[in-house]
Amino acid sequence: MYPLLTEAIAIERVTIAIRDLAPHLQHRKIIQLSDLHYDGYSLSDRTLQDAIAQVNAEDPDLILLTGDYVTRDPELIHPLAQQLQALHSRWGVIASLGNHDNHGRPYRQMIIEALQAAGLTVLWNAIAYPWGPDFPVIGLADLWSSDFQPQTLLASLPPNLPRLVLSHNPDSAARLQPFRVDLQLSGHTHGGQIVLPTGEPLPEILLRLRRVVTRWMSTTLGEECDHVIQHWEWVQGHHYVGTNQLYVNRGLGSYFPGRFNCSPEITVLTLNPA
Ligand SMILES: [Fe+2]
Repeated sequence: MYPLLTEAIAIERVTIAIRDLAPHLQHRKIIQLSDLHYDGYSLSDRTLQDAIAQVNAEDPDLILLTGDYVTRDPELIHPLAQQLQALHSRWGVIASLGNHDNHGRPYRQMIIEALQAAGLTVLWNAIAYPWGPDFPVIGLADLWSSDFQPQTLLASLPPNLPRLVLSHNPDSAARLQPFRVDLQLSGHTHGGQIVLPTGEPLPEILLRLRRVVTRWMSTTLGEECDHVIQHWEWVQGHHYVGTNQLYVNRGLGSYFPGRFNCSPEITVLTLNPA
């Protein structure tokens, strides 16, 4: 491991109001994890095991994972999937994929099969019904893939049916605005990783600077940041996008140089009727 700036895992607790929520689903507890980046550098086994223990201690009804299990080497999904078998919830673990899980079809297939072999349900443009027909969970293809075509899945659902959407990249919320999305769970941003006391993520500031300084002063980091996300206002936390709700988890893994004022996150979401 490179030395990384690290912070303890934070548990964020959020109550989400859902229209038309069936009475038997009130107060159900969902846990979200995202962006594990199990690549030998970005996530230590200690942090992973700590996260799994904290998730299980919450006694969740459902666990949802929003992608980026590995970074570049798909083979590392095997040791990761073995460890993810330790996650426990009443209605299982459902996983969607991120851009780092999709470097070509064979690469993606290896990720999917390893997670399935560990007992997870994996959704790539597919719907699961862990709690029965009253509450579909839709896992979309990653926004940067040519498979990102949400309209068919979302339009296939009855309009009065509440639904939860797993979509790795929060920028997809803009594309999903024409559809009913009661709750979208995303990751991808790592919360910006380095956040100033003002609450502004450093990558966003570098990006803004890059636009005003002369070209020779622009940094590679700035260009990377430009590519990561367009909607910096959705870098982390709970947002309304029109009437749709979006929650962006800061992730568990960290790229170099690590995190400052931006702890790795476990999200505990409780569903309430609107
Ligand atoms: Fe990521």
